[in-house]
Amino acid sequence: DTGMVETDVLIVGSGPAGASAALFLSSLGVANTMITKYRWTANTPRAHITNQRTMEIFRDLGIEDQVLAEATPHEMIGDTVFCTSIAGEEIGRILTWGTHPARHADYELASASLNCDIPQTYLEPILVKNATVRGTQTRFSTEYVSHAQDDDGVTATVLDRLTGREYTIRAKYLIGADGARSKVAADIDLPMEGAMDIAGSMNITFKADIADLVGHRPSVLYWVIQPGSNVGGIGAGLVRMVRPWNEWLIVWGYDIAEEPPVVDEAEATRIVRNLLGLPDLEVEITGTSLWGNNEQYATRLQEGRVFCAGDAVHKHPPSNGLGSNTSIQDSYNLAWKIAAVLKWGAGQELLETYSVERAPVAEQIVRRANRSGREFGQLFEALGVADARTEAEMVERMEERKANTPQGAAKRAAIRAAMEIKDYEFNAHGVELGQFYESTAVFSDGSPRPAPDRDPELYYQPSTVPGSRLPHAWVGDACHKHSTHDLALGTGFTLFTGITGQAWADAAQRVSERLCVELRAVVIGPGQEVTDLYFDWERLREVSEDGVVLVRPDKHVGWRSMDLAEDPETALVDALTSILSRP
Ligand code: FDA
Repeated sequence: DTGMVETDVLIVGSGPAGASAALFLSSLGVANTMITKYRWTANTPRAHITNQRTMEIFRDLGIEDQVLAEATPHEMIGDTVFCTSIAGEEIGRILTWGTHPARHADYELASASLNCDIPQTYLEPILVKNATVRGTQTRFSTEYVSHAQDDDGVTATVLDRLTGREYTIRAKYLIGADGARSKVAADIDLPMEGAMDIAGSMNITFKADIADLVGHRPSVLYWVIQPGSNVGGIGAGLVRMVRPWNEWLIVWGYDIAEEPPVVDEAEATRIVRNLLGLPDLEVEITGTSLWGNNEQYATRLQEGRVFCAGDAVHKHPPSNGLGSNTSIQDSYNLAWKIAAVLKWGAGQELLETYSVERAPVAEQIVRRANRSGREFGQLFEALGVADARTEAEMVERMEERKANTPQGAAKRAAIRAAMEIKDYEFNAHGVELGQFYESTAVFSDGSPRPAPDRDPELYYQPSTVPGSRLPHAWVGDACHKHSTHDLALGTGFTLFTGITGQAWADAAQRVSERLCVELRAVVIGPGQEVTDLYFDWERLREVSEDGVVLVRPDKHVGWRSMDLAEDPETALVDALTSILSRP
């Protein structure tokens, strides 16, 4: 007995990246073991915003209902307020996360799932539970210590923190999902761009029922402009809803060049009362912590058989709500590729496309989140309070926005313009859904990615150009309505074609058997299993009725053909062989 544990994939970390990797791998039938340092999942709420892309991934995994049952729903998250304190004056509001009527259509059209808000303390147990039920070996209080890799696998040394004993786990692959201070990423020496700890923030969690102050303007974010609220932090003071309307999280900044502040109960209570504008409020402080703002991403996410995902490879402030979302999406990209290599005869080269596809996303979201934080500066400028040091000074300058003077009018215009810029943080639909992949796991049909019609950060533009996320359309029959995403397999490939493309569907059966890869054919049209209920698919598919759109298990388009090929079987085999890097 060597005491060695064996598994196919060892996952370090049970946060959003690790727990979702475990869930995806178990759902794909890949044996995996997940270890995590602490005795349970996240102990503070942390990330909340769960965007449409993540929700449709949860839908694919069959856990969307479980997440919605614990989440604050879409309708209650969007009336984002800017104010001098919760009980104080309002500067303005923005309808966020797609809740503006003019934007809501974009969100409804883009996905079967809407965004919602779920604290990490509620989300992680859902992911861990479902992963474990589906087969993951979950080991709490178990710390990753080191690893060595060879041609056939990885041997990791882990520490059982209960017994103090070390043991080894042998796996074919290792996923380091161990957060912003990732030891796995350090051990494989992933190249990083940017810096950590560029600004100081503190989190204060507290309980106080303030429904009467917020229930009529329901939001997850209440931004507070007060003296000091542009120092460090994430752009301004933030009162962040955790549970409506009695559990909250304040994010407040401090100057990272100074000694870290001592945030005891008295100081935390003082900050809470200030931001709420309620000097006598009875408040229960439930926790405080200091954290550094980061602006850092890895330019490569893999070394041999070891991959890193989540905050281990992209570190940034919570602006835009991208942390947990991107972490889960990383794992969604990686998991099927590992399954394809272990079970579907794919070549090792397929695994390299994880880094090729996700490293650009890491860079993009780190830059976006940091820029969003900085863009609060324009609101402070517009208000004329960027350098105000005292409450009185700030109040006086802000009063100017009420004046019947040219200066007053100019200030009002400047405030409106500064608020509009915040759409890049709160209505960045293109950032959330527009991820596009270029790698060998995408087989080009020669057509370029279409130029965006509108601002690509604010607006998502559906396309079936290989590399794009599969466009969502409702299809079905008189009794059923499915998203194209519901029909696309999470455990294999799917092709979509029309009635005159039947030859693609006939070929799919043979190709599936020939390559031993799951390949579902969906023919959309009247008299077929699914019809194009609203003619939306025809509008979105970009290929002819007899063309084909081939979709990967992560619901990105792997290849397409504009028309029927002379030999559909060979065309499909060529595409799949290429995508899977099959020898
Ligand atoms: P995450 O950090 O969640 O998980 C890392 C996992 O690795 C943990 O399970 C840990 O136990 C484990 N681990 C670490 N070292 C290990 C070792 N050596 N051995 C074994 N296990 C190990 N984001 C946001 O959008 N809004 C917000 O308000 C906040 N607030 C916030 C507050 C605080 C205090 C933190 C720490 C983070 C945030 N974030 C946030 C960021 C958000 O939480 C983050 O983006 C995601 O949790 C990233 O998920 P990961 O799974 O990558 O790492």
